[in-house]
Amino acid sequence: MEKLKLGVLGSGKGSNFRAIADAIQTGGLNAEARIVISDVESAGILALAHERKIRAEFVAPGRFKTKLEPEAEQRVVALLQEAGVEFVVLAGWMRMIKAPLLEAFPRRIINIHPSLLPAFPGLEAWKQALAAGATEAGCTVHYVDSGMDTGEIIARSAVPVFPTDTAEELHARIQVAEHRLYPAVLARLAPAQPEAR
Ligand code: GRF
Repeated sequence: MEKLKLGVLGSGKGSNFRAIADAIQTGGLNAEARIVISDVESAGILALAHERKIRAEFVAPGRFKTKLEPEAEQRVVALLQEAGVEFVVLAGWMRMIKAPLLEAFPRRIINIHPSLLPAFPGLEAWKQALAAGATEAGCTVHYVDSGMDTGEIIARSAVPVFPTDTAEELHARIQVAEHRLYPAVLARLAPAQPEAR
């Protein structure tokens, strides 16, 4: 039976990747993680991929902070294509996506962002929500375009902000929502599972 063949890009600890891999393992998501790629050699997401026997690749990002060097982005595209990836999942990927990757996977790259977009795009969105006095925060899964957190929204999940919240507490609450939302959205995008007998 066909499964959605995923490539996962991340720069951090990889808790969203873990949630996705768990959903695949427990049968809630009809997909297969073919490769995990990071721009950070020591990133937890690569270690997690190793543990789960999923191909893990570090790609040296080059001289820019907010995007990959064009050659590095080409390398990412080549790795994804070699691995037979159909759909690209950004899970804590900290760089903008440029033409080579966008053109190789049109409308096939999604991201999760820790705010209720279009509010608070950009870095540390939960801190932005706290600073703005928001009473509600959350996360958004969206298609990726060339802007920063601007692509078409697929789904959002809200969490409350409590007056006593620290940034860490709010981020942790948002991450719990992320770990539910991301696998659920992917399950909707994946081919239907056959009925359990
Ligand atoms: C998440 O909060 C996600 O919204 C943002 O980066 C963080 C990644 O966390 N894009 P993790 O690496 O999945 O734990």
